[in-house]
Amino acid sequence: MQIQLEPQPYSLISTEALVTYILEKENKFEGIAGEIDRAMNGRLNSLATSGEITGKASEMVLIHFPQGLAAERLLLVGAGKPNKFAVSDLRKIAGAALRHLKSRGVKKFSFLAREGERSAAAAQAVVEGIVLADFESDKYRTDKKNREIQSVSLVGFDGGLAGNLKEAIGHGKIVAESQNFARDLINEPSNRLTPTMLAEKAEAMAREAGLGIEILDERRIGELKMGALIGVAQGSVEPPRMIVVRYEPETRAVGGPVLGLVGKAVTFDTGGISIKPANNMEKMKYDMGGGGTMLGAMRALSHLKPKVRVIAVIPATENMPGGRAQKPGDVQTAMSGKTIEVINTDAEGRLILADAITYAKKLGCTHLVDAATLTGAIEVALSNVYVGAFGTPREYLEQFLASTKAVGEKMWPMPMDDEYEEMIKSNIADIRNTGSGKGGGAITGAWFIKEFAEETPWVHLDIASTCWVDEGRPWLAKGPTGVAIPSIIDFALKM
Ligand code: BES
Ligand code: MN
Ligand code: ZN
Repeated sequence: MQIQLEPQPYSLISTEALVTYILEKENKFEGIAGEIDRAMNGRLNSLATSGEITGKASEMVLIHFPQGLAAERLLLVGAGKPNKFAVSDLRKIAGAALRHLKSRGVKKFSFLAREGERSAAAAQAVVEGIVLADFESDKYRTDKKNREIQSVSLVGFDGGLAGNLKEAIGHGKIVAESQNFARDLINEPSNRLTPTMLAEKAEAMAREAGLGIEILDERRIGELKMGALIGVAQGSVEPPRMIVVRYEPETRAVGGPVLGLVGKAVTFDTGGISIKPANNMEKMKYDMGGGGTMLGAMRALSHLKPKVRVIAVIPATENMPGGRAQKPGDVQTAMSGKTIEVINTDAEGRLILADAITYAKKLGCTHLVDAATLTGAIEVALSNVYVGAFGTPREYLEQFLASTKAVGEKMWPMPMDDEYEEMIKSNIADIRNTGSGKGGGAITGAWFIKEFAEETPWVHLDIASTCWVDEGRPWLAKGPTGVAIPSIIDFALKM
């Protein structure tokens, strides 16, 4: 898909479709909508009066052969209530438009900016929206529908200097394409994405992006005494990998911060001996979502070039109930030296993150962000709307949350009071890998990871309920979402 700026006035563009949006209660069309309405002899107004155009969020009104426009179609997308409208909504609006038109066989369209939303940031949101919306989960279909959006042009944007606009469009493309890169990994079934294969894909991405890469195999993992990761991996015939991807800025202050991005990559989670029920178990192929997220973020950062050094550390393994599998009650010694009583082998994410975090600190990371499909409990707390965001110290979490707001991602701060730490005390080892069964499952999971982050500033994102959607949305295919990648990129760029 090509994306470019269109210099012609919108009324003269002979495109397959001209897209713009209408706010709710915009009954008296003004600005561009007013111009179009007048060109169409008041047709828009009569459609609004008859109730066909309401401006409700994601409403689609497609008008063929619109009078006064060179375009073959005019698509008006509902943008919802004006007092709730934000620039980041342009992602959904543009994305929903792309999917609506694509499903009707349209190959080329133009997106028209409206008065008040012509900025470079608005153009970036539109670009992100269309690139994300274009992603389909049809890789393994042999009867693919031959529908493709070939090109989209942006009309009426004004980022001050044209250079700014081009840069914003480039930035948006990199962010969204990196999300799609992660979504593609997250979609892969576990027979086509073992820990070894994930490491190979990470290596290929790193080489192409000019990033450093190092892959620790099971021998190195053993030498480094990553007992928590080994404990999880030992139930599978597939060997584990620790994937390390490095970004080095061209110039960097000596002693400056080093950001560690740690991502859970369980390529399939059966639960191990504490095995999961059959229902929905196939979804556990996306249990490498945190690792995919961090690989996507690294890919983007290689282009966007933050000033800070960034190291991604991704523990990759299967969680299987093989004959050598760890069993409930087993005690493992993590790389840090802490001993862990494994109460439930299905709480494996925190185990592998424990060693990944210890290793990230050993590599010199001074600040940490981890992403993991860690708990079903986070869905109970926040549904599929908000990512659960944990972290210490509080100011560091707040700094991260500022980035989530800047990019328009929903993440909610969760409590980390000491009472929850009590719940992971073990009778025979330093800690246990599950809480006491009195609720707060996402928080005790976070606390377990903190036992390894210790005093290093750390943010933990529980993306179990947000990294995958079972139902498609008008602006996004069902399946992997690419959540958290924009926030992590923004955070690294501002560090
Ligand atoms: N991978 C799961 C969490 C998960 C659940 C991700 C649903 C996506 C959708 C994780 O390893 C897990 O099994 N967590 C357990 C922890 C429990 C045993 C303390 C859970 O949430 O049930
Ligand atoms: Mn599990
Ligand atoms: Zn898991």
